[in-house]
Amino acid sequence: MCARPKRAPFACSTTSQVLTYLSEASGEYISGELISQNLALSRVAIWKHVRTLRTQGCRIDACRHRGYRLLGVPDLPTEHAVAGRLQTSKLGRPLVFYRNVPSTNHLLSTHAVAGAAEGMALVADQQTVGRGRMGRAWFSPPGVNLYFSILLRPQAELAQSGTLPLVVGCAVARTIAEMAPGVPLKIKWPNDLLVQGRKLGGILCEMSAETASAWHVVVGVGLNVNMRRKQLPRMMAGSATSLCIETGRTHARAEILATLLNRMEHAYTTWEKEGLIPFLPEIQACDMLKGQSIRLEQAGKSFEGIADGIQADGTLLLRMEDGSHRSIHSGDAHLIPSQACG
Ligand code: BTN
Repeated sequence: MCARPKRAPFACSTTSQVLTYLSEASGEYISGELISQNLALSRVAIWKHVRTLRTQGCRIDACRHRGYRLLGVPDLPTEHAVAGRLQTSKLGRPLVFYRNVPSTNHLLSTHAVAGAAEGMALVADQQTVGRGRMGRAWFSPPGVNLYFSILLRPQAELAQSGTLPLVVGCAVARTIAEMAPGVPLKIKWPNDLLVQGRKLGGILCEMSAETASAWHVVVGVGLNVNMRRKQLPRMMAGSATSLCIETGRTHARAEILATLLNRMEHAYTTWEKEGLIPFLPEIQACDMLKGQSIRLEQAGKSFEGIADGIQADGTLLLRMEDGSHRSIHSGDAHLIPSQACG
């Protein structure tokens, strides 16, 4: 975990300002002279920033007497790419993008302990030690997916914390409905996001509490966006999917991230005031387990029953064979395939 995170492209604010001038010209030429006057820099300095932008994947045409023209920027969810679409007052402020980190959750936890403010978001193009629930690894190759973490310091009782992954799941479901309509996203309690039984994403909430009213949570989200089928390791081939696989087209990661942060802030504000109750109809509509026979694995124990919905405290209601009900607080749920008759 001690590898030094690689900072983002466009992280130098002057390079980012040059990029802003180029993007605002909407594909037209803008003179180096004009940019240099506005930024109070020499034309040679502007040229050096343009060269930096090119090394970071921006396609910039340079023409004598006309200036520079932006032809394309790489699909990276950088501060710069997300900022224009972000409508939040807290979440993603600040947002820090890294090319490469061990784990955004791990890195953000260290910021949290050092007193970082609520809303800070860390985003990575790649994670080398991405972590999932139950000590599992999260496959995090570069250039294709979204991996990010957000720091929350909820004005709510710690007892409410278990419901947060479901609220984040709703925010993701709303984002997918808007950005990739028609993709039938389901939430699998407690925090999996699936499309037709294959994993599209996952949520990892890591809490830390000083007291029952002063606590923070690092919310980590991994969403498979542009990963192709052939990029999936063999052991994930039958169990994972991506938005690109489902829709047959690529998606702009920065747009998805900005929309998700906007939706998440809205959902979080509601949850802080009203808890999970306002989300229950939505959760019910995309509850993948409801009515299914499942095997629940929990700290070395395993038991079976029929999933009977999610309750206001975030627990899964399980109907046992004898007709009694059990509220499940945590664990891994596995569908039991129905047995063919005859
Ligand atoms: C799961 O097991 O389903 C949860 C996966 C959560 C993965 C995300 S990717 C961004 C953040 N950083 C991590 O190391 N994990 C979470």
